Amino acid sequence: MNRFRALWQSVIGKKIAMAGSGLILVGFLISHMASNVLVFVDPAKLDAYAEWLHGFGGLLWVARGGLLFFLLVHILAAYQLTQIARAARPTGYHAVDYRVSTYAARTMRWGGVLIAVFLVYHILHFTTGTLHPDFHPGEVGRNVIEGMQVTWTAAFYAITMVSIGAHFWHGIWSVFQTLGLNHPAWNSTRVTVATALTLLVAGGFLSIPVAALLGLLP
Ligand code: HEM
Repeated sequence: MNRFRALWQSVIGKKIAMAGSGLILVGFLISHMASNVLVFVDPAKLDAYAEWLHGFGGLLWVARGGLLFFLLVHILAAYQLTQIARAARPTGYHAVDYRVSTYAARTMRWGGVLIAVFLVYHILHFTTGTLHPDFHPGEVGRNVIEGMQVTWTAAFYAITMVSIGAHFWHGIWSVFQTLGLNHPAWNSTRVTVATALTLLVAGGFLSIPVAALLGLLP
């Protein structure tokens, strides 16, 4: 236990916690995106997938608890690493060289806040149905299609998915650094892997609100 505490208290421990929890969240996002795009194939398939998932009963709650735990670890490690970086540079830079800091890196924190706000709205929208205009428990495919018919909702989803894409790209890119794979020889691989995963995950999610805005959902 003391070893875990000592590891957490070190900068490298926080980075490992951030990278590890981030990778677990990426795994969730890949499976969540893959199930949601079933709405294009056949909304009933999305219902069947959700029914299968809900069939796990207590285990589903363990998975939800685990997801929440890793999300909190990710946020806490990000917050503490930001504080450490700030303390090391208390007066800030006079002139920031944006060539070495990509858009994604600079907006990582605000992107994280937007994702947190989105998550609260999203669960009240599609899981509890509280903020859904016409929620039918169990009819997940239908709930997604109907929920996306509200223009501002689809636009909010689309904007958040772009922000998640930027966050995701930078997170994947950074994880190489945490794992020590930051030799210049690895740079093009880092960019390729980060771009491919971002296009797959954020692009897959984004296709749903964009299709809704274009009137292309089934
Ligand atoms: C267009 C994008 C998305 C769509 C259409 C979508 C759809 C859904 C639906 C229909 C549910 C309820 C599932 C059920 O009751 O079985 C759900 C739950 C959830 N979604 Fe999404 N989702 C999207 C993006 C995201 C993103 C980007 C995240 C994370 C950042 C996310 C995180 C969650 C979480 C944590 C739950 C609750 C899971 C649970 O109840 O066990 N979703 N989503």
